[in-house]
Amino acid sequence: MAELSDVFFVDGMRTPFGRAGEKGMYWNTRADDLVVKAIIGLLERNDAVPKDRIDDVAIAATSQTGDQGLTLGRTAAILAGLPMSVPGLAIDRMCAGAMTSVTTMGASIGFGQYDLALAGGVEHMGRHPIGANADPNPRFVAERLVDPGALNMGVTAERIHDRFPHLTKERADRFGMLSQHKAQTAYEAGKFQPDLVSVAVKDAEGAWGLATEDEGRRPETTMEGLASLKTPFRPHGRVTAGTSSPLTDGATVSLLAGGDAVKELGLTPKMRMVSFAFAGVEPEIMGIGPIPATEKALRKAGLTIDDIGLFELNEAFAIQVISLLDHFGIADDDPRVNPWGGAIALGHPLAASGVRLMIQLAAHFAERPDVRYGLTAMCVGLGQGGTVIWENPHFTGKKRKGGQS
Ligand SMILES: CC(C)(COP(=O)(O)OP(=O)(O)OC[C@H]1O[C@@H](n2cnc3c(N)ncnc32)[C@H](O)[C@@H]1OP(=O)(O)O)[C@@H](O)C(=O)NCCC(=O)NCCS
Repeated sequence: MAELSDVFFVDGMRTPFGRAGEKGMYWNTRADDLVVKAIIGLLERNDAVPKDRIDDVAIAATSQTGDQGLTLGRTAAILAGLPMSVPGLAIDRMCAGAMTSVTTMGASIGFGQYDLALAGGVEHMGRHPIGANADPNPRFVAERLVDPGALNMGVTAERIHDRFPHLTKERADRFGMLSQHKAQTAYEAGKFQPDLVSVAVKDAEGAWGLATEDEGRRPETTMEGLASLKTPFRPHGRVTAGTSSPLTDGATVSLLAGGDAVKELGLTPKMRMVSFAFAGVEPEIMGIGPIPATEKALRKAGLTIDDIGLFELNEAFAIQVISLLDHFGIADDDPRVNPWGGAIALGHPLAASGVRLMIQLAAHFAERPDVRYGLTAMCVGLGQGGTVIWENPHFTGKKRKGGQS
């Protein structure tokens, strides 16, 4: 009989994120090749893991068609050179795809059925524009199940501004600017580079180059510049390109393991999974989804928000992160939140981003033995949120039941 097990995030790596579209660095690169590259890089760095011991490969994508179709976890495993005996699957929970890959594989490990698993995601928003070829059931609108605007993520962000007028455009602009500046400072300090797998890319003329850094950053961002931007989702609206995550291409992968596998293979995990939760909210304001998901995950963990020493919150839009911070009474510029910036600066390749948050939290944990618990959370189109709470194995403080230190 298998026994319940701890679940560890052993390691994670990702491709640099590219700007989606013809001018972006991955325009001539296949989506599946991005995730294959990330898997190869991760397994090279973790060569103590026998490849034939990997129990499953879960890879998420929102658009599961073309080079993102064909049961990505299985195809990517074969293309990455894993033995044919290693199975794989594809996952979709829109933006929380990779997060769901991790929780699904994590639950399989926790239930003692798996020892080792790969979990990640990819989105090539250039090749697969958001919502392309979607065919929403007409009942959604005809029966007023959701408002038509609920299918446009930028419109849902405008609605959060409407719902909570004290969360102003000025606050969102400042948050967007800070994300850019923090990401640049972290880049200059070499914080991201160790977890990036370089990708060979071909430009329009057929010349080869190497993608080594996230492409969409705008370190020169100022409040004045942001104030002058158009509001693409609504005339005289409040959400701009400066307070939205940009359309992005990229892939992420993590290696998860159970307690016995960690001991047997001598692995040094970067995080231990404590709890996770997903929750639904009104699709029209999908960005507030992480609030109930976080409350649920905290409850399951027996923790309170004050126990969380570090937050990696996906910045789909500045306003939806601010809505969570406001709900929990956390300042917009609290140093525990996205210390190296977030998706507004780095990009948000939908189904890949969950593991990007985890890679970043793991890197913070290694530097912060004073912090015991951290949290990764994100909103999801059509009104969901997802949250995973993690424990820092490097924590050196005094442990008390359910407490930060
Ligand atoms: C917001 C959005 C529509 C902008 O798309 P875009 O117009 O192609 O974006 P660009 O990068 O060209 O930026 C638009 C303009 O703002 C400017 N800009 C963007 N960020 C800026 C910044 N931080 N500071 C100053 N200017 C900035 C650009 O230079 C550009 O100016 P230009 O029109 O003079 O060339 C697009 O990024 C988007 O849809 N984002 C949301 C994606 C999404 O829904 N994801 C799912 C979340 S759940």
